[in-house]
Amino acid sequence: MFNLILFGPPGSGKGTQSERLIAKYGLKHLSTGDILRNEIANRTPLGLAAQSYMDKGHLVPDEVVIEMISSALDNNPQAHGFLFDGFPRTTAQAEALDKLLAQKGTAISVVLALQVEEEELVKRLLKRGLTSGRSDDTDEPKIRTRYAEYQKKTAAVAEYYKKYDKVVDIPGEGDVDEIFQSLSREIDQRDRA
Ligand code: AP5
Repeated sequence: MFNLILFGPPGSGKGTQSERLIAKYGLKHLSTGDILRNEIANRTPLGLAAQSYMDKGHLVPDEVVIEMISSALDNNPQAHGFLFDGFPRTTAQAEALDKLLAQKGTAISVVLALQVEEEELVKRLLKRGLTSGRSDDTDEPKIRTRYAEYQKKTAAVAEYYKKYDKVVDIPGEGDVDEIFQSLSREIDQRDRA
């Protein structure tokens, strides 16, 4: 089973590249941001609880997202592998994910970490905010808060997986197709059985 974490700061292209990667490699896409936005759209209790955090650009509590991922893993027993997008975002989430995967006799194969400078991220997200309707893209202070959350809590996740030699940095600025080729090259080098 091949399990990939597509890692990077807000706006680094995780969603954009995930769509292409799942089409090419047949992985099951698990995006905690998408699952949370779906819960909000359906006005579920989980969605209503998460919304206030997301609107401010803060992370949703670990226990909420870990439970979501645990259910998603259980609900996809037929998957040949998972692409995690936007998860894990804290060391506690990474430890929980490793345990959940170990219970299923599998593990993270590789962490591909998109590298994009802060000013480029802000530019991309402000541009998307003109049309996306996402409350967390609407103004620059909120986008900077998301980036600060990434620096404070999420960057440590890359350090966590570096201990296991699982992290590969990928330049994330420039042509979307070229970035996709770089990601694909890393995946193609690995055993995906
Ligand atoms: P989430 O939905 O995960 O969003 P994010 O990580 O903040 O970032 P985005 O999805 O906005 O960016 P992306 O890296 O996917 O880039 P994209 O391809 O979209 O999380 C949202 C919120 O949910 C969090 O703030 C938190 O509150 C909560 N949450 C989610 N997961 C959580 C977790 N595990 N724990 C706790 N809380 C959690 O691209 C961005 C834009 O750039 C697009 O317009 C795209 O077209 C453009 N673009 C992409 N590539 C390029 C390129 N190469 N050149 C130019 N433009 C590009």
